[in-house]
Amino acid sequence: MAKLISISSQKGGVGKTTFTMLLATYLHNTGFRVGIIDADYPQHSIVKIRKQELLQLESSEDIKQAFEEKGLAPLEVVSGKVSDVARLVGKLRADTQKDLWFIDLPGTLNIEGIVEVAAALDSIIIPTEMDKKTFTSTFETFAFYRKNGNPNQQVGMFWNRMKHRENRSTKDVANKMAQEKYGITLIKQELGDLVGIKRSSSTLFPSEEAAFIEFVGELQRVGFLAELVHG
Ligand SMILES: Nc1ncnc2c1ncn2[C@@H]1O[C@H](COP(=O)(O)OP(=O)(O)OP(=O)(O)O)[C@@H](O)[C@H]1O
Ligand SMILES: [Mg+2]
Repeated sequence: MAKLISISSQKGGVGKTTFTMLLATYLHNTGFRVGIIDADYPQHSIVKIRKQELLQLESSEDIKQAFEEKGLAPLEVVSGKVSDVARLVGKLRADTQKDLWFIDLPGTLNIEGIVEVAAALDSIIIPTEMDKKTFTSTFETFAFYRKNGNPNQQVGMFWNRMKHRENRSTKDVANKMAQEKYGITLIKQELGDLVGIKRSSSTLFPSEEAAFIEFVGELQRVGFLAELVHG
């Protein structure tokens, strides 16, 4: 049985695709059986990045050697539309070859098949940022999953691209509302606007960015990945 997880938001450009790649690649490299479904049609940016990375592997002996030293096949990346995922959720969950399927969704929750996918997801992680427009979309996203999700699924949020001077009291109010009104799990590890995050998002090589590795630890602590820990 595989778990279905999505880094999801109604807001574009908040880090859905980036964190999908970072998490999937990191977990794949720590022994989990992970796949990505790139359901952001027609961009399919993960599929394109994967193609590009394989070309780089072929054209650089150093990169090829570094990759081969890991002794791991590249994690599986497949593409489709949200409506394809909706048809396949039963099969995906019954997949005994995977522990975890990551589904990269588009930056809109108004799309064919999304309600069925929302109902099937086991974990949803919503990146948010400290600006009013993103906030508003984040709360719409909470409401969407509370309406269409299932009672067993875990919905969490984290602060991405936080700056030092960001208004903490605004953040505290938002955290309280998220937890009390929507029952959202707050992922306490915040991420800054970090070049290391940008540079290390890959479908082949796991990130070594310290803040990201702490973030994965926090996800495990709050139970998003706990059942998958192999020991
Ligand atoms: N913490 C971070 N630090 C630095 N750059 C970041 C961070 N989070 C995201 N980014 C950058 O923000 C940009 C948008 O991220 P990404 O494409 O992952 O967002 P998205 O939510 O998938 O967008 P879309 O809705 O278009 O699919 C990317 O260039 C990514 O590298
Ligand atoms: Mg994206």
